[in-house]
Formats: sequence, C-alpha cells, structure tokens
Amino acid sequence: MKKGDKGLKVAVYPGSFDPVTLGHLDIIHRASGIFDKLVVAVLVNSSKNPLFSLEERIDLLREVTQDLPNVEIDGFQDLLIHYMQSKQANVIVRALRSVSDYEYELQLASLNRQIGAGVETLFMTSNPKYSYLSSSIVKEIARYHGPVQDLVPAPVERELHIKYRRKG
Ligand code: PNS
Repeated sequence: MKKGDKGLKVAVYPGSFDPVTLGHLDIIHRASGIFDKLVVAVLVNSSKNPLFSLEERIDLLREVTQDLPNVEIDGFQDLLIHYMQSKQANVIVRALRSVSDYEYELQLASLNRQIGAGVETLFMTSNPKYSYLSSSIVKEIARYHGPVQDLVPAPVERELHIKYRRKG
C-alpha cells in the first residue's frame, strides 16, 4: 500500500476453510473493521480430499458473514499474488494462533513479498479462546460425534452432523 494512497483498502484473507471455525470468524470480524473491503478467498484444492466442496465452503462462509456488508466470499485456484492482483488488493490477512504457526506463516509471507511486488502480510493474533482450534480438529471431533457447538458457527455444526451421519 503506497503512502497517501486514496483508493479503497482491500485485503484478502485466504485459506482452506474446510470448514470455517469460530476462530476464522473472529478474524473475519476484526479484519473487516480495519479494511474498506475484506475478500475471504477459499482455495479450491486446499487438500487432496476436502470434507466440504468449494461450493459448500463458500456457501457456509456467506451464511455466517451475511451481517458484514464489506466482506466478500470468493474461491480461487491460482497463486495468491495473482489473485490479489485481480482483486486490486495488496494486503494478505493471516492469523497466528501460536508460535508453531510462525515458521510456516513466515515462509508464506516472505515468499509472497518476494514474488508479489508491494504485497504485505498482516498477521492477526487469534483470540486466545480459539488458539487451540483448527478445522482438522473440528472434523476429528465431529467424525466421532463429539460436541462442536462451541467451536464452529451453528450452520457449520448442522452441516457437520449431516456429513458424518451420511457417512455412517
Ligand atoms: O488455510 P490454509 O490451508 O493454511 O491456507 C493456505 C493458503 C491458501 C494461504 C496457501 O496455500 C496459498 O496461498 N495457496 C495458494 C497458492 C500459492 O500462492 N502458493 C504459494 C504461496 S508462497
């Protein structure tokens, strides 16, 4: 972002969101208060075998952010810096839950800065309430029919129940 830049300040919060957790949602709320527009960008092939399809992940994110008018939900299948250019955004938002996140996040941020001219990464520390939380842990608990109501928004809890009921 250039000093004195008068344009809209657009940030991208990229991730797999398979599925969105209360930790993600907390970051979305806080980041949307800082920028004119926040694009939550869901990576298409986040892992070889995501539980939720891209459309399902996007629909859930839309449902849980409908109270935030400056938040846009989108999918992408590209280098993040190319996607940023297409959105005219130059700030990447990422969350740090603990020191163990730092090494990977530093690598991503440093590479993105090197290959994407002018791209900055803004790290937001997770709410301590959610510092232990990850989409993988949520899926593990839900798979064995454990309680996830304090970990994910209600629509995600509903969909997790449906997924794991169907899968037997
Ligand atoms: O929620 P995740 O899975 O930790 O998010 C990882 C994500 C989506 C931020 C990262 O995999 C990504 O940016 N992928 C897009 C492809 C890309 O740009 N890779 C090079 C980064 S240096």
